[in-house]
Amino acid sequence: MLDHPARSAELDERYDLAPSPELAEEMKDVYARMARVVAPPDWAIHAPYVAAIERLKKERNAVVLAHNYMTPDIYHGIADVVGDSLQLAVAAAEIEADVIVQCGVHFMAETSKILNPSKTVLIPDSSAGCSLAESVTAAGIEEMRARYPGAPVVTYVNTTAEVKAASDVCCTSSNAAQIVAAMDSETVIMAPDKYLAQNVAKQVPQKRIVWWDGACIVHEQYTADDLRGFRDWNPGTRIIAHPECPPDVIGEADYSGSTSGIIDYVDRERPEKAMLVTECSMASNIADALPEVDFVGPCNMCPYMKKITLAKVLWSLHAMAEPVEVDPAVADGARRAVERMIEISRRAAA
Ligand code: 13P
Ligand code: SF4
Repeated sequence: MLDHPARSAELDERYDLAPSPELAEEMKDVYARMARVVAPPDWAIHAPYVAAIERLKKERNAVVLAHNYMTPDIYHGIADVVGDSLQLAVAAAEIEADVIVQCGVHFMAETSKILNPSKTVLIPDSSAGCSLAESVTAAGIEEMRARYPGAPVVTYVNTTAEVKAASDVCCTSSNAAQIVAAMDSETVIMAPDKYLAQNVAKQVPQKRIVWWDGACIVHEQYTADDLRGFRDWNPGTRIIAHPECPPDVIGEADYSGSTSGIIDYVDRERPEKAMLVTECSMASNIADALPEVDFVGPCNMCPYMKKITLAKVLWSLHAMAEPVEVDPAVADGARRAVERMIEISRRAAA
C-alpha cells in the first residue's frame, strides 16, 4: 500500500500486514461505522493497518487528528479527533499527548505545530498541499496592503505560516463572516479564496471586501448549471454546498457551511436525498450513521487530502516522519493571527 518499496518492505518485516478476514471479524465494531461504504474484502486489507497503528499510537503516546475529508478507513478507523479546520485547530492547542499525527493537508499540520509548539507534529505526506495555500505568499499580502492602505487582512487558515504571520487575523469557513464583521474598518482584505470572500460579502453587506484571486481546485469545478440540472433530474434532493464554491453555486444550494456545518445540517435535517457539493469522503464518512439519507449526485476528490493513507500513517508513526517545523519568529506571528480568530469566534458563540 506504500509507493516506496524500501519502506513497504520495512513495514512488512516489522508488522503483520497481510489481509486478514479473521482480524477484520475481531474488529467488527470498528467496521460497523463504515460498513455501508467499505466492502468486506477492503476492510480485511485495512484491519491489520488499523491494528498496527493503534498499537503504535500507544507506544508513542500519539493522537490522530483527522479532517472530515479523510477516507472512512482513517476517519472511523484510527482518528481520535475528527472535524473541520477550526475544530482541529482548537483541538490541537489542547492536546496533551507527545505526538500529533495530522491526517489532513500541510497547512493543518503547520497550524497544529503553531498552536502547540512543544509537541511533535507529524504529517504522513508532506506533499499534501492545497491549491489555496499555494496561491499566495507573504509578499502578495504586502501587495494587497499597499493597494488598500489601512485595511485589515483576514486570511483563510488554508495558507502557509508565513502568510498567516503577515495577516491581522485568520478565519475558517465556519467563522469567516463573524471575523470580517468584527473588523474595525469599512474595507477588509480577504485572502486567498476569492469565492469565500464573495460569499462572505453577501453575508456582511456593511463591509467592502476586496480579495486575492485564489480558488480551491475541488470546489471551483462546480457550476450553478450543474446544480440546476441535477435538481431537474432528481427533484427533492437537498443541495448542500461548501462556501469555497462560486457564489452562484451557493445561490442554488439549500444550505452552505463548513465541512462540520454540512455534517451537522444533514444530521439535524435528515433529508431523504442529499447532494453534498464538496469532497467525496464527506458523504462516505456519515453514510453509516445516517442510513435514512440517500447521498446522491457527483462529488469531487481533493488530490491533496487523498495523499494521506493508512500505510503512510503507519510509516509516519514507525519512522516518526515527517515532523513539521515552523521558524519560531514566523510561528509567533502566525499564532497571534490564529489565536485572535479563535478568540473572536469564542466571543461570537458566547
Ligand atoms: P473546513 O474548514 O470547512 O473543514 O474546510 C477546509 C477545506 O480545506 C475545505 O476544502
Ligand atoms: Fe485545499 Fe480545496 Fe483540497 Fe480543501 S479541498 S485542501 S481547499 S485544495
